Amino acid sequence: MPTVEEWEQRYESGSTPWDTGRPDEHLLRVVGEHPIAPCRALEVGCGTGTNAIWLAEQGFEVLASDVAARALTQARRKLNGTHRTVTLHHGSFPVADDPFDFAFDRGCLHSFDDPAERASFAEQMAQQLSADGLWLSIIGSTDGPPRDHGPPRRSARDVVQAVEQHFEILSLRRGEMDTDLPTTPMVWVSLMKKRRAYR
Ligand SMILES: C[S@@+](CC[C@H](N)C(=O)[O-])C[C@H]1O[C@@H](n2cnc3c(N)ncnc32)[C@H](O)[C@@H]1O
Repeated sequence: MPTVEEWEQRYESGSTPWDTGRPDEHLLRVVGEHPIAPCRALEVGCGTGTNAIWLAEQGFEVLASDVAARALTQARRKLNGTHRTVTLHHGSFPVADDPFDFAFDRGCLHSFDDPAERASFAEQMAQQLSADGLWLSIIGSTDGPPRDHGPPRRSARDVVQAVEQHFEILSLRRGEMDTDLPTTPMVWVSLMKKRRAYR
C-alpha cells in the first residue's frame, strides 16, 4: 500500500498512468446497463476527478474523496472548467449527513496489500451506503500475462474475501483497464449490493 506521501509524489511527478482523462468504460457500461439512476454518489480515491465529473454530468450528486491533496487540486482545476458540482473531500471516507446510494472506486480497494485492510475498507464503504446501496469497484486482477507495472494483482478470492461479509456480489466480471501503460492490465469489475444481514 503506497503511503499518502507516495501518492502525492505520483501526482507531483505525473507518474499516474491510470489518469487517462477519460471516464472509466466499465463505469459507463454498468451505470447504463444496470441501470443506476442518478442519486447520491460517493467516489473514494477519486484522483483528478474524471469519473466524479462524469457522474455529475449524468445527474448524480457526487462527493469525491482522495487522500492526496495534489490530486484534489487537479480535480478542482478540472471542475472549474465545467458547470458541474462535485463536493471534494480530502481524506478517505467522509462524515456525511446522509447515506449514499451508489459508491465507486477505481484502484482504491486493490491498493491495500493486507487482506484485513481490504475487508476494513469494504466495511467502511458499507457504512457509507443506504440499505440496498450499490458499490462498483475496479480492481487489478491476477489475470493476464506477467507484468512489472500496472495495478496490484488481486485474485477473485481476494475480492470475495474482502467484501462478502458486507456485500452481495451482483456481478464479478473480467475486464481490461484503460491506462496510459504500454500493455493493458486486466481488472475485476465488481458490482455489489450492501447486505441487509450476513448469515
Ligand atoms: C490508482 S489511483 C486511481 C485514481 C482514480 N480513481 C482514477 O481512476 O483516476 C488511486 C487513488 O486512490 C487514492 N487513495 C489511496 N488510498 C486512499 C484512501 N484510503 N482513501 C481515499 N483515497 C485513497 C490515491 O491518492 C489515488 O489518487
